[in-house]
Amino acid sequence: MALKSKFKNVKGTRDILPEEAVKWQRVENIIRKKMKQYNFQEIRFPTFESTDLFRKSTGESTDIVRKEMFTFKDMGNRSLTLKPEGTPSVVRMFLQHGLFNKGAIQKFYYIERMFRQERPQKGRYREFRQFGAEIIGSSSAETDGELVKSALDIFDELDIKGIKLNINSIGCPKCRKDFVKEFKGFLKGRLPELCEDCNRRYKENPMRILDCKKDKKKIKDAPLPSDFLCDECKKHFENFKNRLDFLNIKFNIDKHLVRGLDYYTKTVFEFVNSNLGSQNELGGGGRYDELIGFMGGESTPASGYAVGIDRLMLLLPEKEEKLSVDVYLVSLDSESDFVGSKLINSLREKGFSCDKDPMRRSIKAQFREADRQNARWVIIIGENERRKGIVQLKDMNKGEQKEVSMQIDKIVEELKC
Ligand code: HAM
Repeated sequence: MALKSKFKNVKGTRDILPEEAVKWQRVENIIRKKMKQYNFQEIRFPTFESTDLFRKSTGESTDIVRKEMFTFKDMGNRSLTLKPEGTPSVVRMFLQHGLFNKGAIQKFYYIERMFRQERPQKGRYREFRQFGAEIIGSSSAETDGELVKSALDIFDELDIKGIKLNINSIGCPKCRKDFVKEFKGFLKGRLPELCEDCNRRYKENPMRILDCKKDKKKIKDAPLPSDFLCDECKKHFENFKNRLDFLNIKFNIDKHLVRGLDYYTKTVFEFVNSNLGSQNELGGGGRYDELIGFMGGESTPASGYAVGIDRLMLLLPEKEEKLSVDVYLVSLDSESDFVGSKLINSLREKGFSCDKDPMRRSIKAQFREADRQNARWVIIIGENERRKGIVQLKDMNKGEQKEVSMQIDKIVEELKC
């Protein structure tokens, strides 16, 4: 039964209680392990940045910048924004700290909270978590393949089934010009039929009209970016597909896939899963070869992706994951409590998780607590035990109890059995 309180978590945010946090820890550990196997280096960045960073890099015409950012003024009247995505901060850090001096190719990953003011629903929150990976300095399609593979490896290790990979190429600014010209011509007579957003996109970034959920059907026969690729972009896309084949990765070419951020060039991809319902995109990414130059750096190719961890959690197969403690102390009197406290501190130093009742309630209550905490072992100490220099060690799985010498090494030996 929950208590009535006037304070509740804010709409679109989520509390993660201990039972759930155990699952998050497992997932985050797997992400970190896999990222290390691929030699990505972890970076962490601030919760808020200057609003201009996102305006310039995520893009003025995107839904994120237009209507989803949590923007506020600080006391110095500077406009700040809670980060809605990670790529702009990664690029800023890369430039600000001169990371380009550290090597031609740099591989970063992050696990960070993001903030978008969207209408909350299952799988869509206002504060959510992403893990992302970015490779800066490589123009090779092999890099795009490696990124995709690193995400799929993580899904695999988490035993998440039914993930589909959609890919496309949206070309470079050079070939996009030809596409946009043709596409605008196609749209011109149809504009009155299209939604308000698409009419605005027509002026700001027409390609994004292909992404519109409402109007998709009305423009089924529109010219598509992939039909206008220049030789270099065509070759890059071929190489990307070959790389996926080489890695035994199945994919679907979705010629309408353009993604909702302004910085993409050439490769774009997304991971979808139908079990997520209407928010079926688990992750996505692509190449952003122009962004670093656009943000003031030397022209540097880059590619990356991000996955929504909250959505990942929705797909995690049910697994028995209980909160537990290795050792729980039950002491029968205050002197035994002193002795026991020393023992469990030594066991903690040896790497075991241990706990005891700080109120030293009745023996029954201490055992109840050991049960509630799923203790693997219980150490029982009373006057008798102290006199004999032993402890009673109860194996809670087997329900068996035996006498063990009070020496720490002897107890450790037993716990390792
Ligand atoms: P994005 O597609 O905007 O890409 O977000 C990546 C993932 O974050 C989505 O696929 C989704 O799983 C999750 N996500 C987005 N919005 C929400 C939300 N409101 N609630 C829960 N989960 C959400 C990016 O953010 C790019 N920075 C990816 C990238 C990295 N591209 C290149 N490098």
